[in-house]
Amino acid sequence: MRAPEISLVPPSAALLESYAAALRAGWSPNTMRDVSADELAAVEDDPEEFLRDLTDETGMVELADGKQIPRLPFRLFWIWDGEFCGSIGLRYQPGSEELPSHVPGHIGYTIVPWKRRRGYATRALALMLPVARAEGLPRVLVSCDADNEASKKVILANGGELIGLTPRDPETGKPKLSYWIKT
Ligand SMILES: CC(C)(COP(=O)(O)OP(=O)(O)OC[C@H]1O[C@@H](n2cnc3c(N)ncnc32)[C@H](O)[C@@H]1OP(=O)(O)O)[C@@H](O)C(=O)NCCC(=O)NCCS
Repeated sequence: MRAPEISLVPPSAALLESYAAALRAGWSPNTMRDVSADELAAVEDDPEEFLRDLTDETGMVELADGKQIPRLPFRLFWIWDGEFCGSIGLRYQPGSEELPSHVPGHIGYTIVPWKRRRGYATRALALMLPVARAEGLPRVLVSCDADNEASKKVILANGGELIGLTPRDPETGKPKLSYWIKT
């Protein structure tokens, strides 16, 4: 059976209820830590501020060691099949394919557990490549844990060329694989 078509949509107030429903069902946008309860509290407390924070390119991010650093420019989309399915983001340094050492790759993605294995992540990454090209990136670095079979397949299906093992993830201590993907 063919998977339903998905699209990448910018986060918006109109779609926020579907995002909140995914949080209520236990999905965590951060794959390292379960942040679903904290996010849900923030959405319910002030939806407009939540969306502003989510899409604010001038904000700060906290590293694993607690250090606060400025966010890189980014494009964030929700993956949509009529409902919220997950999210995919692109982070980059304008005019360069280099990334700071704390950023393992240009593109990261996650699919809610109940919509996995339908080809959504593979399709979402394919839809993100022209977005990266439009931002001036002829190729993107994408990394995944060496034991993440699903993510490896997503990357390879999009033309990923293995660079090799990169240093262990400081948060998980796991070895990671890095790939270049031409946009
Ligand atoms: C990794 C992830 C995004 C994959 O999403 P998905 O929409 O299920 O992926 P797809 O349906 O496009 O599947 C891609 C391939 O992986 C396979 N696959 C999916 N889940 C798998 C699993 N748990 N184990 C092994 N293979 C798996 C699919 O069968 C498919 O293989 P095929 O191309 O041979 O048919 C999803 O599992 C997820 O959100 N995981 C947690 C967050 C994460 O790991 N993000 C990636 C960080 S780099």
